Amino acid sequence: MAHEDSRARLIAELQHAYSGELAAGHAYRGHWRSVRDAGERERIRTIEDEEWHHRRLVGEMLEGLGSGPRPLRELVFLLIGRTLGLLCHVVGWFLPMYGAGKLERRNVGEYEDAARYALGCGHPELVDCLLTMAEVEWEHEHYFRAKVEGHPWTRLFPLWPPLPAKEAIRGAGSPGRPQAGGSSSVAGGALVPERMEE
Ligand SMILES: [Fe+2]
Ligand SMILES: [Fe+2]
Repeated sequence: MAHEDSRARLIAELQHAYSGELAAGHAYRGHWRSVRDAGERERIRTIEDEEWHHRRLVGEMLEGLGSGPRPLRELVFLLIGRTLGLLCHVVGWFLPMYGAGKLERRNVGEYEDAARYALGCGHPELVDCLLTMAEVEWEHEHYFRAKVEGHPWTRLFPLWPPLPAKEAIRGAGSPGRPQAGGSSSVAGGALVPERMEE
């Protein structure tokens, strides 16, 4: 993929993630407030904090790339997040847990894609942070999957396909690993190829 193409895709993916984290933050705020179990409240509250943290990191990346959020997307995702947060109080225990797991599954791949685009446009310093966020999203998916697995409602709402093992995020073929035969260097804590240009 050409350098400029990777850069455009990286910015689009980050803008998508930035607004997605806004929706997630508001949705989880409603979610943890709606559950009664103390352990679940605490875990989902922590997940909410992690989504706000991701949003800050992604915002900084966009700024560093000379870009920023898309205002209309921000507004739409704010409304989505607030609506989901309110719905958590009325739809019962299962659906918010199920919906969260399903959405989290997609987030993992989005941060992995962003890491690939970052490498493609000469920004290896972003790769470690992006893959760390993918790993955190993997943990979120894992938590919600474990919550709904075996629940009688999964006969009506089948579980989404499982993710590969968490180690695969930095495994063979990952942007965090050197290509076969290529030399590598450590940037931002992640192993990345020295030659980023495609
Ligand atoms: Fe996140
Ligand atoms: Fe998440």
